[in-house]
Amino acid sequence: MVRGYRVKYEARAGLRPAWRCPLADRSKPLPSDVWRHQAVQWERVGPPLRPSAPDTRCLERIVQAWVAEQGVPSVLVLGVTPEMAKLSWPEGTDLLAVDRSAEMIQKVWPGYPGPGEGTLLADWMEMSLPADSRDLVIGDGCFNVLSHPEQHQTLMRVAHETLRPSGRLAFRAFVRPEAPEQPADVYRAVMNGEIGNFHAFKLRLLMAVQPSSEAGVVTGDVWKSWLADGPRPEDLASRLGWPLAQITTIEAYRDQDTVLCFPTLAELRGVAEERFEELGCEVPPYELGERCPTLVLAPRET
Ligand SMILES: C[S@@+](CC[C@H](N)C(=O)[O-])C[C@H]1O[C@@H](n2cnc3c(N)ncnc32)[C@H](O)[C@@H]1O
Repeated sequence: MVRGYRVKYEARAGLRPAWRCPLADRSKPLPSDVWRHQAVQWERVGPPLRPSAPDTRCLERIVQAWVAEQGVPSVLVLGVTPEMAKLSWPEGTDLLAVDRSAEMIQKVWPGYPGPGEGTLLADWMEMSLPADSRDLVIGDGCFNVLSHPEQHQTLMRVAHETLRPSGRLAFRAFVRPEAPEQPADVYRAVMNGEIGNFHAFKLRLLMAVQPSSEAGVVTGDVWKSWLADGPRPEDLASRLGWPLAQITTIEAYRDQDTVLCFPTLAELRGVAEERFEELGCEVPPYELGERCPTLVLAPRET
């Protein structure tokens, strides 16, 4: 078990045609990649879709435990989650954030050690980093942008090859419940005031629209469901007091073919166990925390 690491094992309001939605201007095409659009509105995306204090504290504990035993780390960040650059890295840390979206790198990554530094524009599947070159591989939601099980297996293999034997793979994953929800359940819950914020609603809706872990969920299909069966943005805003600016973040999904994937925790563990031993799984205390665990894994000898 990692030292100092607390571990737990473990209405719809009637159909509305597209033209009535004031937030959807269909005359303007959107970029074909959700992340290009997310880059522009990053500040309006919030927890649980972005890591919050419990998640960064958890990662900080994992990092500090490793640093206390092994020294200054060489780190690979999968993606450009800005919170990763802001962890209290010891001086001399070699940190590289890899992302294939130039827009995300440019607009979201604060830079490490200095502004604009510490990034590589590349696909995780084809990074060609030297074997045994990193002590920590970390990410937030990195497995949710890959297909299950093929790309999950590939990223596990890449992380395993890149890590030194004493290294750690630590990441937060969004995992769907074993018993899937239907979109209607999520719309009913939100109109009944049972969901705490729009980001939590969006995560539940993504998981509910997904037909299966293998198929993943096409973000454009989430937009279609929302447009056809979801509440009107203004109704949500006035009924629940949620900012319209947050609600409009769902427009990043309009007409997008980007596929996200939400496996169950058991499915993700099933892919990991071939190459990694699980050292911990921390469930954060916020709403939907059970769907956002952070896993810490140690590479098995092969
Ligand atoms: C890590 S994920 C999830 C977002 C996360 N919740 C956060 O807070 O950053 C998002 C990033 O993954 C990147 N991405 C998706 N697939 C990728 C791949 N195969 N290789 C490299 N980057 C990828 C996207 O460009 C995007 O910047």
